[in-house]
Parts: sequence; structure tokens; C-alpha cells
Amino acid sequence: MSSQIDHLLTETRRFAPPAAFAAAAVGTAELYERAAADREGFWADQARELHWHTPFTQTLDWSNPPFAKWFDDGELNVAYNCLDRHVEAGNGDRVALLWEGEPGDDRRVTYAELTDEVKRVANVLTELGIEAGDRVAIYMPMIPEAVAAMLAVARVGAVHSVVFGGFSADSLRTRIDDAGAKLVITADGGYRKGKVSPLKPAVDQALADRGSGPQQSVEHVLVVRRGGNDIEWTDGRDLWWHEVVPAASAEHEAQPFPAENPLFILYTSGTTGKPKGILHTSGGYLTQAAFTNRVVHDLHPETDVYWCTADIGWVTGHSYVTYGPLANGATQVLYEGTPDTPHPGRSWEIIQKYGVTIYYTAPTAIRSFMKVGRQVPAEFDLSSIRLLGSVGEPINPEAWMWYRSVLGGGEAPIVDTWWQTETGAIMISALPGVTEAKPGSAQVALPGISIDVVDENGGPVGEGNGGLLVITEPWPSMLRGIWGDPDRFVETYWAKFDSQGYYFAGDGARLDDDGDIWLMGRVDDVMNVSGHRLSTTEIESALVGNEAVAEAAVVGAADEATGQAVVAFCVIKQSYMTKHEELDGLVGELRAWVAQQIGAIARPRDVYLVTELPKTRSGKIMRRLLRDVAEGREVGDTTTLADTMVMSTISGQVTKK
Ligand code: PRX
Repeated sequence: MSSQIDHLLTETRRFAPPAAFAAAAVGTAELYERAAADREGFWADQARELHWHTPFTQTLDWSNPPFAKWFDDGELNVAYNCLDRHVEAGNGDRVALLWEGEPGDDRRVTYAELTDEVKRVANVLTELGIEAGDRVAIYMPMIPEAVAAMLAVARVGAVHSVVFGGFSADSLRTRIDDAGAKLVITADGGYRKGKVSPLKPAVDQALADRGSGPQQSVEHVLVVRRGGNDIEWTDGRDLWWHEVVPAASAEHEAQPFPAENPLFILYTSGTTGKPKGILHTSGGYLTQAAFTNRVVHDLHPETDVYWCTADIGWVTGHSYVTYGPLANGATQVLYEGTPDTPHPGRSWEIIQKYGVTIYYTAPTAIRSFMKVGRQVPAEFDLSSIRLLGSVGEPINPEAWMWYRSVLGGGEAPIVDTWWQTETGAIMISALPGVTEAKPGSAQVALPGISIDVVDENGGPVGEGNGGLLVITEPWPSMLRGIWGDPDRFVETYWAKFDSQGYYFAGDGARLDDDGDIWLMGRVDDVMNVSGHRLSTTEIESALVGNEAVAEAAVVGAADEATGQAVVAFCVIKQSYMTKHEELDGLVGELRAWVAQQIGAIARPRDVYLVTELPKTRSGKIMRRLLRDVAEGREVGDTTTLADTMVMSTISGQVTKK
């Protein structure tokens, strides 16, 4: 990579953990030494933190790469590990879920209560003919029953496919089809943005589209009543949760399943149009999800109140809402709605109400909080927070500093956690009691994880250089395949560095002079301008460093002269607009600003001031659509956008100029 991206790496601020934090931290420097001395032995130790019905004797079988087997001859029950064992240890009265509904209703669910509920649901599943290996689709709002549904499926050895509640009937149908689900668990609807957002009608639609022939794998639909909205009912197929679950027996002995028994499929978008069903299995996945939740989030289950804001429809909700925290016996907040409903301080009100100590969210959320302004969180008592986490995209140093000062009281450590749906659990992150934090860098591979940054030929680039992020050794929570498509699995992740046997993550990264890792965005988001490589991430970071800019997205647009040209879309801060009546001249200023921050090569050809950016429901900016606008094409498929109107608004704003 060119020197133009050096400016991010001149970050000199360092933040050591507060001494008291470091003294009590779960993750210690000794973990690195132990893992470096004996990587497999280290993971075997972590796996032994779980309850095994049959202890494993073999740690890793890598005899048929890239198809790994971890703890293969061991047997466990994932739900037993998340529930029964805590009750048996005398912690049944500990609260597992502090649930907050969007309208303000709430429920506290203890480990004993959640165990009882999951046992009943497991009995219902068995009555409905669900057996080990069968697939169950879950399409639910963020309510305790959603977590119970996942655990009940796991308890009977079946495989869940959680489909995010914001996906359309059509996306749900393709996912049900691909997995051949026998049962769908849903709700009438859930609360979102102040009103009931219906779910069951989308299930009806998805199933109707599939007809009733042999292709119709779904036999039943289990429905939780949450929204109270009117729904249609298919007798014989549809069942109310509140009728069948309380009526079922609460006696259910968890059976052991092999460590490599499939646990879930989770669909994620790839470079082609067809979503990939990422497959995860049981023992290795749970080992790494639980371990990372303990050491990265510094979880002390007896005292902490943990809140990961992810929806269970995404991998973060799987690993850091359902499996990791419950395997560790944590007490956690589960919130149904959006962070700004019914008022912009909703998240802070929840932190204050429950005394949240660990808060894990996405940079996109942090930036939207910044946009609203620090006066909103200032109205609440956030002093309980002692650790902050970030996930999903690079966090720009400005957002990092805001996060630390406004939410973390100027001292809470921040962990910037890099991982993917495919990796199953965190791979790169600081250990908060050990590592001196650097704003903007995800920093180092976790103990037991082997990461490198390499060139196109797989050669290490070395400190001070950029290249492609690879994982060089198998890890316990690695994906075991793409559902029904082993060739695509090999081709997508392993073919590029076939001879080295590396997993290619699809991300560009850079090692700084300390050997710390800086994620530079997906490699498909890296532009090539006049033969110089530029990172969209870096230019965005520069733009949001300008006092006028709340959010920015940068794309590389085809350009006759330079190959690609930088095109930026910026959302301007409300406070800036109030102060400056005219935005004339701002475009020029921003172009100059970027040139000044990074170098003339990075000066955007075009800067468009827009009111919103196109984002998926999980908050990722859809650069593909912006590239369409930047290149004057008709905008492509917008169905995965959270708000499908955004693109017509942006196109209007751009053409008007
Ligand atoms: O590009 C990286 C980015 O998100 C991708 C994985 O997306 P997904 O499978 O949806 O999982 C998101 C939640 C784990 C990665 O390839 N990404 C994730 N975390 C970070 C990140 N980029 C930079 N820094 C991170 N901390």
C-alpha cells in the first residue's frame, strides 16, 4: 500500500487500563505465553471449562484441510452448558436476562426460569417431530423467547437458522428453502420504532410462495404472542407458544451430542447474489465464544451487567448474546427496540436503569450518537460502565475518543474486536487489562489465534506494511463449511492461499511499527487511484474528523484519467448546519481537508452532501449503491437496505447539484 494511508498510523495516543481494572482483569498476559507454548493444549484447557458428557481425548483433527474437527470424540450438550449447569451449581436465582421491551415493559428471567422454559420448548420440539440434525428457522423480535428458542433447538441437537426480523418474506423464503427447515418459530410481531412490526405475515407469505408440494419442508409454525397484531392462522400448521409451551412437561434431560454436531446456519452475503449459509458446530464454537466473552469483555459473571446491543439475527447476537454470555452464567440486558425510541436517550436510560457495566456496540451506532450530541447521554448516570466494546467495522479514532470520553467517563478501556460470521468468535482484539489501547487499531490476535498480513503471494508483509489479512492456523470456532456447498467454501476462503493453507478473510490490513493490526476495510473497498492504493476507510476517517461531518461514505468510481476516483458522500452535523446557514463552499473545504489530512492523491473528485447514507439493517453502509450513483448508473438492488427510500433521496440530491 502507498504511503498515502500512513496518516492513520501516526496515531500516538496510548491508553493503559486503569490499575484497578488491570489488577482484577480476567484475561492476563500469561494467556499469551501459554498459547504460544502449546496452542492446541491451550484450546483444550479452554474447552475443559465447559461441561462434557464425554470428555474429548483429541483436540484438533486437521487431516483433511480445510475441513477441521475440534474435540471430535467428545460429547456435550450446548444448552446444558448455558443453563442447567448454572442451576446445578446453585445459581438458579441469578438473573440471566434483564429484558426491556421497546414500549418500556420489562421482565427479569433467572437461570432457573430460562432452564425451565427451554426444557418445555425442547419437549414441544420433540412432539413436533424435530430430531437431531433437523433445521429450524427462527424469525423473531428481541424477546426472551427468541433466546429460549435457539437454546431449545440446540438442546435437542437440531440446527437453527436465525433470520433477522428485518428481512423480507422473500429473503426468509430463500433461507428456509436452502436449509430445508421443518419448523419456523416466529412471533405475531415485535416493537420497532414505536410501532408493532409484523413478523407472522411474512412467514405466511414465505410459506405460501412455496406451495404445498414436496418442496414444502415446513410442517409447523410456532408463534409467540408479542405484538398483539391481527394475524392469519392456518389450523393444523400453526401453534401458539403460550398454549403449547406452558402445557409441556418441564422435565427434560439434556442428551449428549458429538462436538462436531451442527449447531447453526447463519446466512451472510457474499460477492455473488446468493447468501452463504455459514455452518457452525458445537464444541469448538462454544469454547471460543465463551472464552472470548470472558477475556475480551472482562466478564465477571457474579457482578457484571453486560449489554451487547446486537440483534440475534446477526452473528454477534449468536456469540455474544446467546451462547458466550449464557455459557459463562452472565447477567445481561436484552433490548427489543431501536436505540432512539421513544427518545434519543433510550440507550442511556437503559444503562442507568440496570447499571450496565459492559457495553458492546457498533461504530455506526457510536457515530449516530455523536451526531445527536453529547448533551443527550450527559443527562443520565453512566458511571456504572467499566468496559466498552466495538464490533463490525473499523472505528475511526474520533469516534473511539468520543466513546471513551462520553460513555466511558474518560477511563473505561475500549476493545475493538475484529471477527466475522465465518470466524464465529472474536479473533483480533486487545485484552483490556493487558494491552495499551490505540484508538482506531484492533491491535493483536487473541491468545491461541494466528493471524498475519500477507502480500498477493502469501508472503508476510512485515511491520510497517499493508496487505491481506489471513488466518494461518485453524481455530475452534471456525466455520465448518457453507451449507450444501463445500466447493464454494473452499473457493471463497481457502483457494487464494491454497499452498500456504491460509484462510483469507477478505479484509485488507496493515501492521504498524509495533506490529499492531489496523483493519483497512474489505479489499473490494480499497481503491486504486492513479496506481496508488487508497482505503475508503481511511478517507472516511479523515472526513469524519472534520468538524462539519457526522458520517461519511467513500467509494471508488471509475475514472478515465485516474482509473478510479474518490467520491465521498457526507452527512453534515445538525450543530454545524445551525451555526452556518449556508453550506456554500463546504464541498471545496472538505476536498481540501482530505488533501491536507492524507495527501493530494486522496482529494475526492466529488463530495456530495446528503441527508442519509444507505445502510443495511445491520448498519453496514452499502457502498455498491453509492458507487452506482457516483458512476451515474441506475441504482442496483436496494432490497437489503433498512430504508429503501434512501437511495432515491440521495440520487435526487446528487442530480440536483
Ligand atoms: O470487514 C470486516 C468487518 O466486518 C466483516 C465481517 O462482517 P460480518 O460477518 O457481518 O460480522 C460482523 C460482526 C463480527 C469483516 O470481514 N469487521 C468486523 N469487525 C471489525 C471489522 N472491520 C474492522 N474492525 C472491526 N473490529
